[in-house]
Amino acid sequence: MRIGPWTLPNNVLVAPMAGVTDRPFRQLCKRLGAGYAVSEMAASNPRLWDSVKTSRRLNHDGEIDPISVQIAGADPAMMAEAAVFNVNKGARIIDINMGCPAKKVCNLASGSALLRHEDLIKRILDAVVEACAPLGIPVTLKTRTGWDREHKNALRVARLAEDSGIAALTLHGRTRADLYTGEAEYDTIRAVRAEIKIPLVANGDITTPEKARAVLDYTGADAVMIGRAAQGRPWIFREIDHFLRTGATLAPPTWGEMRDLLLEHLDDHYRFYGEHTGVRSARKHIGWYLEDLPGGPAFCARMNLIDDTRSQWQAVADWFDSIMRDGPQPGNGNAQTLLAA
Ligand SMILES: Cc1cc2nc3c(=O)[nH]c(=O)nc-3n(C[C@H](O)[C@H](O)[C@H](O)COP(=O)(O)O)c2cc1C
Repeated sequence: MRIGPWTLPNNVLVAPMAGVTDRPFRQLCKRLGAGYAVSEMAASNPRLWDSVKTSRRLNHDGEIDPISVQIAGADPAMMAEAAVFNVNKGARIIDINMGCPAKKVCNLASGSALLRHEDLIKRILDAVVEACAPLGIPVTLKTRTGWDREHKNALRVARLAEDSGIAALTLHGRTRADLYTGEAEYDTIRAVRAEIKIPLVANGDITTPEKARAVLDYTGADAVMIGRAAQGRPWIFREIDHFLRTGATLAPPTWGEMRDLLLEHLDDHYRFYGEHTGVRSARKHIGWYLEDLPGGPAFCARMNLIDDTRSQWQAVADWFDSIMRDGPQPGNGNAQTLLAA
């Protein structure tokens, strides 16, 4: 899988998820086998660039290259300016978001709302590519299959992207109106593959190594991009990569490894966010890691009352230690497998 001058180590990619794929999480995913990660979306409006949130999103310290930053907006000149700003902050690839159905993005006629305005899409793509080309920075596009099921224009958008010099296209197999409901479909992704030559990434509801294989085979896409299935499960990337390369299933992580990875994730998360935000924003990650484990949800309900990072870290460590000492509670096959592994 190539994006402009970059050859990725594999074709299993991390989807950008605002509020989830921050630098600590991206770094962990890359270490656990992801070939590439796109950062959370950064606003194209310069008035927002000084906010704490945006400054954090612009922090790429220690991140494995290529650093890819996603931008969103509806004004071609502002998008071009945002792209150059992010390149100056370390981005090596710029990704344009036309896939986000979030209200605050769509209200500004950006994100997937742009799918209604193909003329504007073209102007945005041209403006960003023209701004990035002299800097040697490839531009990618992430979008959905269309505005709604009656207006699926992914084929036309894909052609516009290719003509504008977009280096790779990611397609989520849902329309904007679908939000996250129903199931992603892969027929449109397959049709787009037949239409364009640039690298194509299939996204949507890929949750297992087997499904990744099936989606790649069916669509002919060059890579898969994983979002929600990686929440609390960053090792999914090595599992998928291993299966795609060998056809064999990699053993799940042991309790001990899971404990160490979560604690390491928390350490990095606290360093990144600081005490106040760190303890609060870590709760959702801990919840995802533990949601399928025996007694995990009950522990999380108690853990959510803790408001300092030291005690939160220790509570997680103690919980894993007690499970590893006393064994899991009955009724969770997944946990039994993990313990046996
Ligand atoms: C919490 C959350 C935040 C997201 N934020 C973004 C975003 O900032 N930019 C974007 O292009 N897509 C965003 N997405 C969409 C994902 O990148 C991905 O396209 C979608 O979740 C489908 O993939 P999945 O089924 O593997 O999760 C977000 C999804 C979720 C669940």
